[in-house]
Amino acid sequence: MFKQAISHEVCNKPIPEPISGVGIGLRSPHIHQILSERPAIPWLELLADNHIADGGLIPAQLNAICEHYPVTLHSVGLSLGSTDPVNINYLNKLKQLKNDHTIHWLSDHLCFTSHNGIQSHDLLPVPYTEQSIQTFVDNISRAQDIWGDKILVENVSNYMSFNASEMSEIDFINEIVSRADCHLLVDVNNLYVNHINHAVDTTDFISKLPTKRVKEIHLAGYEDHGNYILDAHNNPVSDSVWQLYTQLIQILPNTPTLIEWDNNIPDLDVLLNEASIAESICHQTNRHEQYVIT
Ligand SMILES: [Fe+2]
Repeated sequence: MFKQAISHEVCNKPIPEPISGVGIGLRSPHIHQILSERPAIPWLELLADNHIADGGLIPAQLNAICEHYPVTLHSVGLSLGSTDPVNINYLNKLKQLKNDHTIHWLSDHLCFTSHNGIQSHDLLPVPYTEQSIQTFVDNISRAQDIWGDKILVENVSNYMSFNASEMSEIDFINEIVSRADCHLLVDVNNLYVNHINHAVDTTDFISKLPTKRVKEIHLAGYEDHGNYILDAHNNPVSDSVWQLYTQLIQILPNTPTLIEWDNNIPDLDVLLNEASIAESICHQTNRHEQYVIT
């Protein structure tokens, strides 16, 4: 089972400052500009899979990024919902990044991406059942043992549902994070996609969130396909998602937030503008909350 994180004394690393504010996902078209101009971005999230495979950041770039910015890792390959055993080799590669750099945390998704050793490039859904919960709990616990700290798991967007499901998505998530004793990453766009595609009740979802376990929020844009919407990460954050974020930040003030943009990637300034909108929502919401309290 999960053991206390390896101490920083053992790792010989300084304890990093906590992450705060609105960061962006680091994408390859922006690396050169970020390294040369060093814009004031509170933190960066690295797609871990890009940096444990050939073709990721070269070591000097990775060193420079990690020295100048607080960094987190976001992976898609843990396949935490799979009946396959946890991929130790994959986790060890992630762990090596953590050993070599100051990495604040690792996050992955509540889905599976491999079965019988065959890797999918999609985040595949599972039915919300007791059996699925146990699979996640076993895999998350094993992953946390190897990673040496709690990991964050993210709610995913779904494009199919299962007759076998026995509970709502939020009840399913709560059982997993409680039993696995892990943290939660709330992707607001994924919640909105499931609201439109599957009539998920966003008010119920937000009201039942295990707030103490939520350590990060994701914001992204979707693509409208008429009779469904797709979590395409290729557009600005929509007005509806900004509204949900405003609701969410009222119960999760000061939660680190990240702008994700993965397709049709625009200029860095566009991402930084999205981040500034999120920052202003946080400030306005917090100011309003203080006003109400006093
Ligand atoms: Fe996300």
